[in-house]
Amino acid sequence: MQQHGGDGEPAPFRVSELRDRGGLYYGINQISGKAVTGDRRRLANGNGLILAQPGSGKSVAAKLELGSVLVDTDSNVIVIDPTAEYVPLAEAFHGSAISFDVRDDMHLNPLDIDYFDEEGNFLDWTDVRYGTADGKGVSVQDKMFFVRALIETCLRKKPTDRQLSAIEKSVVRMYKDNYEEQRRIFMPEEKSKSRWATPEYLMRKEEERTASSARRQLSREEIIREYSPVMGDFYQCLKEMAHDDELKELTDSLERFITGSLSIFNHHTNIAINTRMTVFNIKTIPKNLWTTAMFIMLENITGRIEANYAKGISTYLLIDEFHEILRSPATAEYTSRLWKKGRKLGGIYTGVTQNVSDLVKGMKSSAADDQTENIFSNSKFFLLLSQSTPDRKVLEENLPISPALFDMIENCEPGNGLLIFGNTVVPVNMRLRKESTLYRLFNTNFFEKTKQIKEGRENL
Ligand SMILES: Nc1ncnc2c1ncn2[C@@H]1O[C@H](COP(=O)(O)OP(=O)(O)OP(=O)(O)O)[C@@H](O)[C@H]1O
Ligand SMILES: [Mg+2]
Repeated sequence: MQQHGGDGEPAPFRVSELRDRGGLYYGINQISGKAVTGDRRRLANGNGLILAQPGSGKSVAAKLELGSVLVDTDSNVIVIDPTAEYVPLAEAFHGSAISFDVRDDMHLNPLDIDYFDEEGNFLDWTDVRYGTADGKGVSVQDKMFFVRALIETCLRKKPTDRQLSAIEKSVVRMYKDNYEEQRRIFMPEEKSKSRWATPEYLMRKEEERTASSARRQLSREEIIREYSPVMGDFYQCLKEMAHDDELKELTDSLERFITGSLSIFNHHTNIAINTRMTVFNIKTIPKNLWTTAMFIMLENITGRIEANYAKGISTYLLIDEFHEILRSPATAEYTSRLWKKGRKLGGIYTGVTQNVSDLVKGMKSSAADDQTENIFSNSKFFLLLSQSTPDRKVLEENLPISPALFDMIENCEPGNGLLIFGNTVVPVNMRLRKESTLYRLFNTNFFEKTKQIKEGRENL
């Protein structure tokens, strides 16, 4: 079926079947009644957005897709979950749920780095510093971008050129110290050859770590978790250079990582997160730590996506309540960069939000800027569920879909929507029966949930 625009010209989008072999399940085609299956990996850009008004089935649809990813593919799934509603799904699929609640004592170290190649050999320092020729793995250069951005959020302003240069030197110095330390520990035959002496700030730590590594056989994951540098090491490197006020301003801003509220991020990673599904439950992050915690989480996620890519595995990243990440310019910029380079890393990213105005410029009270607009234009997958009239107008202007198709989703039932897949548009019905196991697992309706829990207790 070909859809025509109002002026008689064919619209760029076609209404037709979407039946990719081996694709994920997206419900039933409302016109033909056939199953809709699509493989986002074949799109020019697999990234996407699920947009609709509150309570229209965005999260349920996202869970349906992720369930299909976990059952039908070998891809990994990562969810940023501001309302802790994906935790049961992670449990059902034996995944891990990571919380940022201080009481849970879970730590993620943003400086984690891997110096080994796939055969377990040490990479050359040049590859570690600038990145490998095939672009696999995280380099010191990548970490530099992160540390700089992190410091900007702590300083609340752009660092000066001298400050930037000091940050760069300290990041390189810290990783070089750490790299040489790991070589001494894990390749004892190199020890006598090493011309790089153990710096003072690492001496005690290195002694302890050498003894501990001799006692047990460590996996690659354990080496990354336990032996990567931490923010305290970076602080030490920077402090040694900071002899005037301009540079002292930097170390002062970092003191929060050492003795203040951000010291929860000055720890080695202590959670194994190499499961197929990982949920970052960010519901309980204290307000004052929010931007920093988001940064550290996004950096960790990027590292995981790159590690998966090195193993030939693609990663589905879902960000629910996307507007929460977009409200901070720093995290919006980071996310926009992810959206742009996703394809190169085998990443398939989805933002879920009710705030269309955060993503499209020109709306009244629009919060969109160049960064968020990039996210919209770098998306080739859209799932539009029930739309309010003002949002419909904006979407109609920005996605060339006919008014007749939009009529199908104006204030429609939860689970019905329009799937835009590259150049194809399909009206889909993703509705689940209330008695089904999937509905029970995916449902977020508070009153129904409490009823289910009560019934569950009574049936014990
Ligand atoms: N595919 C579906 N089939 C049947 N019912 C559905 C479906 N999707 C959603 N619902 C119903 O709508 C409710 C709300 O769905 P969901 O939580 O996915 O909405 P949402 O758009 O994510 O809302 P919010 O913006 O508040 O996060 C569910 O609890 C369920 O009762
Ligand atoms: Mg939701």
